[in-house]
Amino acid sequence: MHPLVSWFFCTSALIMIPAILLQVHYRFEQFRGVIGDPPPPPVPIDLWCGKAYHPTDPSFDPGGELAPPEREDGLQLVVYPRYSFYLSSEKKGSLIVDTPIQRVSGEHFRSRTSANSTRGPSTYISIRISNAQTSETLVNWETLPVNSWGNEVEFDLGSTPVDRGISWLVSVIGRSPDAALQTSYSGAATVTVLPERNDGGSVARVDYLFGGIEVRSSLTKGEWKTIYPYSFYTSWDWISSTINSATATKNLATFRANGYNLIHPVPPGGTDPFNHTVFEEFLRICDELELYVMYDMRHTYKNNTSISAQLSRLQHHPSLLLYYTADEPDGWTDPLNATQIAYQHINSIDPYHPVSLVLNCANFYFKDYSSGADIILEDTYPIAVNTSFSTVYNTPCNTTYGDCGCDNCHAYDPAYPAYIRNPFLDIIERTENLQTYQEWLGASAKKPIWGVPQAFYDRGSFWQRWPSKEEEAVMAILRLNHGAKGIVAWLYPTSDEIEEVTSSLAKVVTAPEVTKYTLGTRRVTALDVVGDDELVDVTAWIREEGMLLSYVYVGYTEYTKEVEISLPEAVTAIESLWGEGGKDWTLGGDGKTMRKRGLTGLEVGILQLSRRDSTSGLYPIQHA
Ligand SMILES: *[C@@H]1O[C@H](CO)[C@@H](O)[C@H](O)[C@H]1NC(C)=O
Ligand SMILES: *[C@@H]1O[C@H](CO)[C@@H](O)[C@H](O)[C@H]1NC(C)=O
Ligand SMILES: *[C@@H]1O[C@H](CO)[C@@H](O)[C@H](O)[C@H]1NC(C)=O
Ligand SMILES: *[C@@H]1O[C@H](CO)[C@@H](O)[C@H](O)[C@H]1NC(C)=O
Ligand SMILES: *[C@@H]1O[C@H](CO)[C@@H](O)[C@H](O)[C@H]1NC(C)=O
Ligand SMILES: *[C@@H]1O[C@H](CO)[C@@H](O)[C@H](O)[C@H]1NC(C)=O
Ligand SMILES: *[C@@H]1O[C@H](CO)[C@@H](O)[C@H](O)[C@H]1NC(C)=O
Repeated sequence: MHPLVSWFFCTSALIMIPAILLQVHYRFEQFRGVIGDPPPPPVPIDLWCGKAYHPTDPSFDPGGELAPPEREDGLQLVVYPRYSFYLSSEKKGSLIVDTPIQRVSGEHFRSRTSANSTRGPSTYISIRISNAQTSETLVNWETLPVNSWGNEVEFDLGSTPVDRGISWLVSVIGRSPDAALQTSYSGAATVTVLPERNDGGSVARVDYLFGGIEVRSSLTKGEWKTIYPYSFYTSWDWISSTINSATATKNLATFRANGYNLIHPVPPGGTDPFNHTVFEEFLRICDELELYVMYDMRHTYKNNTSISAQLSRLQHHPSLLLYYTADEPDGWTDPLNATQIAYQHINSIDPYHPVSLVLNCANFYFKDYSSGADIILEDTYPIAVNTSFSTVYNTPCNTTYGDCGCDNCHAYDPAYPAYIRNPFLDIIERTENLQTYQEWLGASAKKPIWGVPQAFYDRGSFWQRWPSKEEEAVMAILRLNHGAKGIVAWLYPTSDEIEEVTSSLAKVVTAPEVTKYTLGTRRVTALDVVGDDELVDVTAWIREEGMLLSYVYVGYTEYTKEVEISLPEAVTAIESLWGEGGKDWTLGGDGKTMRKRGLTGLEVGILQLSRRDSTSGLYPIQHA
């Protein structure tokens, strides 16, 4: 069965810039009925996420939906490198080994140790790691627990030849402890080692263990620095008009002083989008401010020549953090191979910076479009939008028809009561789904997900008003709670109240005291909350010296009763890092619960919980 994508390159439904949307309506371009692409619809029509959305067009199944594979039980060796690449100066690398027994895809667990053994199933597995090219042993039999995640196994990088173009295949074999039974497992990973740069440019890589991005340059004094980006897509008009203006009250320096650690200029269009003089000045200031650049090629990513020219101007700047290619390629139904082609071209010029893109659809050719990125963003905008009836096109919206600005979302839809109780559920689900889809595809190293909170208002678009500052905080921290490793809202300049709340959040979320948790440990979810009507969303991150806990109350109206959160570990003190309501929590006697009376509507809090022993200072938390 051939899935269906668009047969036309349509320019009519730009969700991010609805004002433009209305102007360029109904322009059909470039017939694409090529083998490998899906069969054409009955008539040439505009599509968004593969669906027709004009009242005169018919409803049909857009296809391209990813479904979960058959779930299989069985031990699997899942192996991936800790980092997307290493540098030749680094002596040690490491592999992450997961040993899940249940995984959505995987070979059957045929351990004969377990079948008739009185000892029960084996609980350990021994692994041996070697360089598949040279057969050299990198790790000679190390024991790992079965059904565990995130085991980090270090190895010597010394013997791995350095080459810009070659990744080294590393193979892993595993044996159950009862070697006589010869139960064995295997896995493999590629490790990339790149030469050091000598042109002043930064190097940035993905940490596949915790999902962070880390950068090294003169700005970081040659040390790797892990970054939780908290920022905005930013209007180039605003940047270029304030950059040399003596009268502007806001400029790049005030932007950085607000706490935003990254900037994502939105290119104005054209194959040579930026005025070179102004862009050079922009980069110089970003270098000076240590304001990291997320470089957007939305209008040019399908043009290799243009990509090459743009990259050449960026290479020696230490503030370059990552690239961004396609803006909602799934919405536009760009060619399925477009993001991957651009990725390969960028990587052939610059393998030192990750590539990102944003997906707008709920579930439309995820595998193809996401294959062209190291980091995937989602832009789910559920505030003040009608998710079941398009106010722009006057049609219903459902899984086969219509464009409501939030694909397959249900916020405030009476047919979905859960989304009336929690109108932010679409954000939670989208953030989690982009992680789950990777599981379904059998990915070993997972691509980090970043979130794009709604921070705009365009009259006449799908969205009827600005989000409030409370809603803005909820949209960001829910994403943090559900695994997002960066926040880049659409669009700066924004409203004064959104600027105020995001500035104060950015200062906390990007601080090393917080990122050592959010980018240095795994999330602990599903904490027990009593008295919340299931509207309190809580995540914790645990380190030896304490715990970071962030909570979001997604109800709009005040909750007046007592709320109690069960903690995964006992603590002795609570310190509020962000949020007015954070100061009112008290610890239960055993230090394993925290409680308070009442929550204000849309209350958000970020708390640092510590465990101290009065005699010896820090008292490490015991891990199970
Ligand atoms: C294991 O036990 C089952 C019955 O419980 C028996 O049919 C089977 O032959 C045994 N297998 C071995 C290898 O002993
Ligand atoms: C680029 O901007 C500079 C400074 O504003 C201006 O002098 C110059 O004419 C611009 N160049 C182009 C090609 O528009
Ligand atoms: C691709 O980019 C180059 C260089 O910027 C430009 O000259 C060319 O016209 C572009 N091609 C297309 C098809 O837009
Ligand atoms: C990408 O897909 C298009 C069809 O949409 C096809 O014409 C083109 O040859 C493909 N390019 C590559 C490099 O596979
Ligand atoms: C663009 O570059 C990629 C990777 O280098 C290559 O596969 C592709 O064919 C190029 N596309 C064109 C149109 O030259
Ligand atoms: C969405 O629009 C439909 C049709 O106008 C209307 O009946 C419905 O109440 C609207 N829903 C919301 C949540 O505004
Ligand atoms: C979606 O809405 C269209 C237009 O009302 C309708 O024809 C179609 O059957 C609906 N699809 C589903 C899955 O309900």
